[in-house]
Amino acid sequence: MSWLGVDIGGTKIQLVRCDDDLRILDSRRAESPPGKILATAIEMAAELAEGAQGIGIGAAGVIDPTGAVAATTEVFPGWAGTNLTEIVSRELGLPLVVDNDANAFLHGEATAGAARGYKHAFGITVGTGIGGALISDGVLLRGASGGAGEIGHTPGFGNEPCTCGARGHLESVASGLSISRRYGQDISAGQVAERARLGDPEAQQVFEEAGAALGQAIAVVATVLDSQIAVLGGGVLGSWDLLEPTCRAAVQATVLPTNAGLLIETAQLGAYAVAIGAAALAAAQAS
Ligand code: BGC
Ligand code: NA
Repeated sequence: MSWLGVDIGGTKIQLVRCDDDLRILDSRRAESPPGKILATAIEMAAELAEGAQGIGIGAAGVIDPTGAVAATTEVFPGWAGTNLTEIVSRELGLPLVVDNDANAFLHGEATAGAARGYKHAFGITVGTGIGGALISDGVLLRGASGGAGEIGHTPGFGNEPCTCGARGHLESVASGLSISRRYGQDISAGQVAERARLGDPEAQQVFEEAGAALGQAIAVVATVLDSQIAVLGGGVLGSWDLLEPTCRAAVQATVLPTNAGLLIETAQLGAYAVAIGAAALAAAQAS
């Protein structure tokens, strides 16, 4: 049997068709075209859906229990209120599950990646935005409106504007967009990282501050949930070498002794982790 997984993000749309063991049979990726993200994702899914038993979608934003986008950011103008489940079922006619992208990510990592075997885990995806997901006692938490785990929008991180309209959120310091904005030269976070590695002190400082902010957020979640492992993913984790020292230092400086053994690991499912996790959610729903 095979399962289609779709990752709808602010920068990229990524799709995989997986077998029951979550091995990738086929994959596709494209840039997210502004204003046409959903239509493009559906078109790409239709091409890959042949023979699939179900579809899972991991989408940015708070996805409510009906599959509608209950809250989102300026990265997805017009996305709020969109009922993804309704639209995609109508277009593709396959069994469908829609969840937040970071939730899909952590479900995948817990099924076949770094968090496998841990009952108390959380995930943070650092990309265009910052996503988060929580597993407590083996259960993926969704909360009252679907927003459980929205770590990117927790406060206490300075006063810079966030994509959600508030200020001082983790995402406003440590996301790919923020790293690029904070460096201030209209280049991508990946390019800022290249400069940091070549010794540019301002680029290094932006990454050190992002790493420290991530570490503080990790410490808060680990303390509140008493977690065993944090799994980090997303495009910006390509620069984990630049984030890791200040991130780990911030965690160790603040957690209780009972949480000092928290494992902090990077995703094992690679660049397609959200899509693979979404496929895994579809398979889980069918079983
Ligand atoms: C959104 C989250 C999403 C994350 C990563 C954030 O800005 O609020 O829902 O998981 O970006 O895409
Ligand atoms: Na989430």
